[in-house]
Amino acid sequence: MSPTDENPLPSLHRLLDLARQAAQNAYAPYSGFRVGAALLLHSGQVVTGTNVENASYGLTICAERAAVARAISQFGPLIRIQAVAITNLNNAPSPPCGACRQVLSEFIAPDAPVLFPTADGVLTVPFPELFPFTFNLQQK
Ligand code: THU
Repeated sequence: MSPTDENPLPSLHRLLDLARQAAQNAYAPYSGFRVGAALLLHSGQVVTGTNVENASYGLTICAERAAVARAISQFGPLIRIQAVAITNLNNAPSPPCGACRQVLSEFIAPDAPVLFPTADGVLTVPFPELFPFTFNLQQK
């Protein structure tokens, strides 16, 4: 998906919709928990991901990390994420897990909004609020 004159940057609402669509493709036979993530890149492109489970459990890939891997595979290592939407098809709160926050932290723009479902509806939280102490080797 790319921005055009007729189709400007997707709204955050649309981003959630795309995350929901991605969740339809989840491979989650063990937990039954179907997650979708949509990344809005600075280029205006949207990349989605879904969770891919494994019988070993520990090899499961979350939707957010699947989306990051896909974004880099498609657009290279210089991508910058300007917004993230996460959802699930189970009507459950699903903030991104700690591992996904750490992975997102290397590609996300400062103050990028992260949308995720909570018990009180969808919350929009700036990334630094969600993950204030990132681990990195650059001593930023
Ligand atoms: N899951 C995600 O896709 N993202 C998260 O941030 C947390 C958990 C997935 C992994 C697993 O397939 C299922 O949700 C239940 O933990």
